[in-house]
Amino acid sequence: MTIHIGAKPGEIAETVLMPGDPYRARWAAETFLKDTRCVNQVRGMLGYTGTWNGHPVTIQGSGMGMPSLSIYANELIRDYGAKTLIRIGSCGGMQPQVKIRDIILAMTASTLSTPSRGIFKELNYAPCANWELLHAAYAKAAEKKVGIHVGGIYSSDVFYDERPDLNEQMTRHGILGVEMEAAELYTLAARYGVRALAVLTVSDHLQTHEALPAEDRERSFGDMVEIALGAAFS
Ligand code: HPA
Repeated sequence: MTIHIGAKPGEIAETVLMPGDPYRARWAAETFLKDTRCVNQVRGMLGYTGTWNGHPVTIQGSGMGMPSLSIYANELIRDYGAKTLIRIGSCGGMQPQVKIRDIILAMTASTLSTPSRGIFKELNYAPCANWELLHAAYAKAAEKKVGIHVGGIYSSDVFYDERPDLNEQMTRHGILGVEMEAAELYTLAARYGVRALAVLTVSDHLQTHEALPAEDRERSFGDMVEIALGAAFS
């Protein structure tokens, strides 16, 4: 047990999928894993462990934003020995060629700040995905009938953004989408020598103001789970 995860030693797999929403963790575990058991209920941040094609897998909610994700990722890596962490989540599109429902594989994650900012002081550290996972996820994503984009994203600290000028600069510099967790996940993975990737569905668009209809969210989420699991065990 850690402060935020109630699982016993050995109850967390080396491969962990991390949706922001704990109910998504439950849905994904019930839908894709076998021999599933709930291993965490602390604060309602549900976590499940089961197997996929015989491989042990944990699906643990991260909560929203980098401070929340940082708590779970730190404990998963440092206390439970997680070696592969894949965020599965949503993002806002920031380029005209990035459409609602498309999948973005985040090669890098720019930020203004992460919970790790204090370590780097004046340095602008560049958080990046694990290449093996990125490469494998691209091959898996190519099997789906969705648009795929690989490139830089922006991990923001706010959903309700008051800096349209900053978003304009992100778009101008090729950033594909905005979410709120990947940069800290990549930074922690680098620090502890483990693998990380963010697989993101475009759920809304900053320029067109379109949003993914509720009925499409489950299918998009299912695609991400399959891509993440396929990439983890390629
Ligand atoms: N902004 C930040 N995070 C997000 C968004 C957004 O527009 N969409 C999904 N996650």
